[in-house]
Amino acid sequence: MEQELFSKVDNYIRNLFAKEDKVLTDTIKSLDSENIPQHSISSNQGKFLQVMMMACNAKKVLEIGALGGYSTIWMARSLPDNGKIITIEADKHHGDLANKNIENAGLKSKVELRIGKALDILPQIISENKEPFDLIFIDADKPPYTEYFTYALKLSRPGTIIICDNVIRSGKILENDTQDEKVQGVQRFNKMLSENQYVTATIIPTVGIKEYDGMAIAVVNRNL
Ligand SMILES: C[S@@+](CC[C@H](N)C(=O)[O-])C[C@H]1O[C@@H](n2cnc3c(N)ncnc32)[C@H](O)[C@@H]1O
Repeated sequence: MEQELFSKVDNYIRNLFAKEDKVLTDTIKSLDSENIPQHSISSNQGKFLQVMMMACNAKKVLEIGALGGYSTIWMARSLPDNGKIITIEADKHHGDLANKNIENAGLKSKVELRIGKALDILPQIISENKEPFDLIFIDADKPPYTEYFTYALKLSRPGTIIICDNVIRSGKILENDTQDEKVQGVQRFNKMLSENQYVTATIIPTVGIKEYDGMAIAVVNRNL
């Protein structure tokens, strides 16, 4: 009953604020055609990322976990003409599909997709000594979320917004003796985030068409 209500309310918000066009619905369909799991964010969450990008005037965005490019497309659409997203994807099949969908969205010039494990690619990005990112979206495998966040901080400046998805996991984060390594990964991450002196952070629980979950939002408040 509750899930039905949450879905209806999510659809209500989507119809008001976050209607998908054909590019976005085709991106979602392409996952089924390629037998890739439907693990994209929802359209309301895509709109939420756009709002966060506007809030920090984002020109440079880093994403960890591209899947089929659905969240990348939402964010790339909010970039100014000279804006850029680097998105990291470990799975070549997913990355190839993301590239196809991003091209179909007419956003190829704004997106650089790097295929490889984030823990290998992130040190490379640091060594390139580029300008810090304005917004970083972490949405990949859960066990190394703490390590991803540590790299994200190194690639930030005061004011950078770091958003990390799926940190509540249907409430399983309350289970202290869990053996689920994804849950353990986000439990470790949530604790670290709550104690981290370099950010002002919180977690927003999310309900809707997706299972009950949450997004961590952190704003960097000082230089490392
Ligand atoms: C939840 S999906 C991302 C969804 C995407 N952000 C969206 O909303 O459209 C997670 C993605 O992270 C990728 N991934 C898993 N482990 C990874 C790693 N170590 N480094 C980079 N990407 C990884 C998976 O292959 C998968 O495509």
